[in-house]
Amino acid sequence: TDAAGTRHFTLTAGAGSSEILAGKSTATWGFNGSMLGPTIRARRGESVAFTIDNGLPEATTVHWHGMHVPARFDGGPHQTIEPGARWESAWTVNQPGATLWYHPHPHGSTEKHVYRGLAGLFLVDDEVTDAVDLPKTYGVDDIPLIIQDKRFTADGTLDESDPTDIGLLGDTIVTNGIAGAHLPVSTERVRLRILNGSSGRMYNLGFADDREFHLVASDGGLLAAPVPLTRVRLSPGERAEIVVAVSGSNALLRALPHEDHAGLDRGDAAAFGVQDSFDILELRPSENPTGSPALPASLATIAPLDPTGAAVERSFELQWFMINGAQMDMNRIDFSPTVDTTEVWTVRNVDNWPHNFHVHDVQFQIIDIDGSPPPPALAGWKDTVYTPPGVRFRLALRFTEYTDPTFPYMYHCHLLLHEDQGMMGQFLVL
Ligand code: C2O
Ligand code: CU
Ligand code: CU
Repeated sequence: TDAAGTRHFTLTAGAGSSEILAGKSTATWGFNGSMLGPTIRARRGESVAFTIDNGLPEATTVHWHGMHVPARFDGGPHQTIEPGARWESAWTVNQPGATLWYHPHPHGSTEKHVYRGLAGLFLVDDEVTDAVDLPKTYGVDDIPLIIQDKRFTADGTLDESDPTDIGLLGDTIVTNGIAGAHLPVSTERVRLRILNGSSGRMYNLGFADDREFHLVASDGGLLAAPVPLTRVRLSPGERAEIVVAVSGSNALLRALPHEDHAGLDRGDAAAFGVQDSFDILELRPSENPTGSPALPASLATIAPLDPTGAAVERSFELQWFMINGAQMDMNRIDFSPTVDTTEVWTVRNVDNWPHNFHVHDVQFQIIDIDGSPPPPALAGWKDTVYTPPGVRFRLALRFTEYTDPTFPYMYHCHLLLHEDQGMMGQFLVL
């Protein structure tokens, strides 16, 4: 922190090697290390400044996924950092406490850069997350989990061959950089901040014994109240914070087959990996656990965005590698919302492939799904939503604070191969 109160961070993207599989060394990329990156933490109201050095042999970028940030500091495909070059990004954090993340966004190579290991969490704290009675000792009962799937050749090299229609689909689940992860837990309950950091794989997460857990936060922060669940679905880029009781017996977090084939054609489902199951993380309780707070009845107040006052309605059709029949063009601005207005966006996947929809700069609210209010798990702040084939989502989005006539924000499918193939568009906030 400098005299003006700005907190400075430095990140260096570089190549190295990691032991992902026990006893084998794999060439990987990371920030300030050989794989993944440090968890960054900042408070609402705090000014942050990043100095980012690219020590990789390829140009990259660093995007703050879920963050409300000026467009020129967003780290999208226009903020390229050449090998050996430095980029600086700075803003004042102004959004609810949440589990966000950062990752590369170079147009056409995002999938490979993330797959090779470039990703980290960015936690935002505020008075509400400070005050809420949830497990919050980082690394003890508040645990970050970055879940990714990878494939390895016999000698332990990351396999980048044979992408499927939804990108690189791995057969090994890597959690926080290791395969076959387990975690000793010293408390009654634990809060897991889960990021689906995979290229294309969708997870239907639950415990092997079907124990109930509570969803307490989605992409953009705390829900209004804990939601009891036995499964939570995360498409690429989405986050979920859950609280689960682990005292007594081991709790095995698993990826389970999606009950409804994730809304896909039964015949296609296997090819998209949604019927696979994997062990993700074994939570091992201690014999004398420390007590945990009882779950609060309510968590946060979420003021609904008012769609009736929406200045503009837009619609988005997702199909093939296109949005509204067009592929990404770095020189085309698709539209320009006006600052301090609320818009309603209708998003529909008219494909038989899975897609999701991510918007930069804002956290949105789901107004309805095929005309019905969203389930409680999807009723909080979101920046990425899974859009199964044929289903119509209406989103309310409010653009605030930052305008820029030159630098756009992105919206795109967060299945990273689809994004790289051009399933992305750009908007200016004016
Ligand atoms: Cu997580 Cu446009 O990205
Ligand atoms: Cu993003
Ligand atoms: Cu897609």
